[in-house]
Amino acid sequence: MPKIALGAASSVSLYKACQILRGFKKAGCEVQPILTPNAARLVSPLLFSSLSGRKTIVETFDPDHEWSVAHVALAKEIDLLVIAPATANVLAKLANGIADDFLSTFYLAVEKPVLIAPAMNEAMWRHPQTRDNVSRLKARGVEFIEPEAGYLACGDSGPGRLADPEAIVAAGLSLLRRARSLAGRRILVTAGPTREAIDPVRFLSNRSSGKMGFAVAAEALRRGGDVILVSGPTGLEPPAGAEIVRVTSAAEMAAAVLDKARSAEIVVMAAAVADFTVARPAKAKIKKSAGAPALKLAPTVDILKALAGRPGRRFVVGFAAETGSLRAGARAKLKAKSLDLIVANDVAVEGRGFDSDLNQAVILDAAGGEIETPVLTKSELARRLWDIIESHAAKKR
Ligand SMILES: Cc1cc2nc3c(=O)[nH]c(=O)nc-3n(C[C@H](O)[C@H](O)[C@H](O)COP(=O)(O)O)c2cc1C
Repeated sequence: MPKIALGAASSVSLYKACQILRGFKKAGCEVQPILTPNAARLVSPLLFSSLSGRKTIVETFDPDHEWSVAHVALAKEIDLLVIAPATANVLAKLANGIADDFLSTFYLAVEKPVLIAPAMNEAMWRHPQTRDNVSRLKARGVEFIEPEAGYLACGDSGPGRLADPEAIVAAGLSLLRRARSLAGRRILVTAGPTREAIDPVRFLSNRSSGKMGFAVAAEALRRGGDVILVSGPTGLEPPAGAEIVRVTSAAEMAAAVLDKARSAEIVVMAAAVADFTVARPAKAKIKKSAGAPALKLAPTVDILKALAGRPGRRFVVGFAAETGSLRAGARAKLKAKSLDLIVANDVAVEGRGFDSDLNQAVILDAAGGEIETPVLTKSELARRLWDIIESHAAKKR
């Protein structure tokens, strides 16, 4: 039986959380209600306890907690956290890691999918601070079911009303299904740049931050996959639960990928691997006094091509960072390297691609199909990409 933690904050739409709770129960889920202390001033926790059959959690320091550290123990037990309604205050706290009540502390301990349904006055929803908080949470992979436009309890009319409880339950159930959609599948993801040594202190590299590959790995983990992440040098915190293989050069990346790909069913190559390396890197630091050196470059191993030649049936996804003629370049790469899908993005556009939290892509498949995404956070793009990979990989099986 899937287990859901349902958090609810002190919005006027709190009464609808009862319908949401009942919806999840009807669908066969176990529901652990959590109210913020302010929500418990608007309604009695007893109402939620009676509907769920479990004691509603309100206080972090409740001496009657069944567990020693309830927020940590519960975070491990659940399959999904739904927060509906979420106030502007809850969004601000979650976006900034403030943990001053049970719900916000619990959120930090949860490594499972999180669905948030905000509800507030229209001006509060439009406030730049709230917009910023929502964007930050989305960038971290939190899913939102946006408020609807309509008559609000405060008398205003506009976006801010809690989404329909049935739609929230449906979104939660679909997230639960998705959370298991890659269970038992071995997935290899590459991320980040490579560094090609010129001498012991200098190297050739590129502007990849690794954010896209890390987002792809994090989403695969959220779907229950066994994930190996081969990463070039990045300053990013690796997603919890992945096997991390750190590499520096293109040659190390190639060796790690060809080794780990033997057991992988799906390979997503988001790393920006150097095409050329320095033919003979200097053993000692090159002295300025010796004048500008002429660097002789040599091609690196073409990992995707090498992978295509290896035995075994794998679903392989490549990335193409282009700076013009996006589709033509990507389609040529798709064909030349026998890929199943290619994600093409124009890295010359300001504010997207390299090092940005945003990306826009055209996803091309081997049968000639293509899907163009809007500008999305890298987490959202990773989600779209996995939806597409899963539907294409199912056909290939
Ligand atoms: C009757 C009532 C209704 C409220 N409705 C909302 C709401 O829909 N959305 C919101 O963000 N804040 C709303 N507020 C304000 C929040 O309750 C307030 O910001 C509170 O500090 C949030 O605490 P919490 O997030 O810990 O529950 C409401 C307050 C009251 C008294």
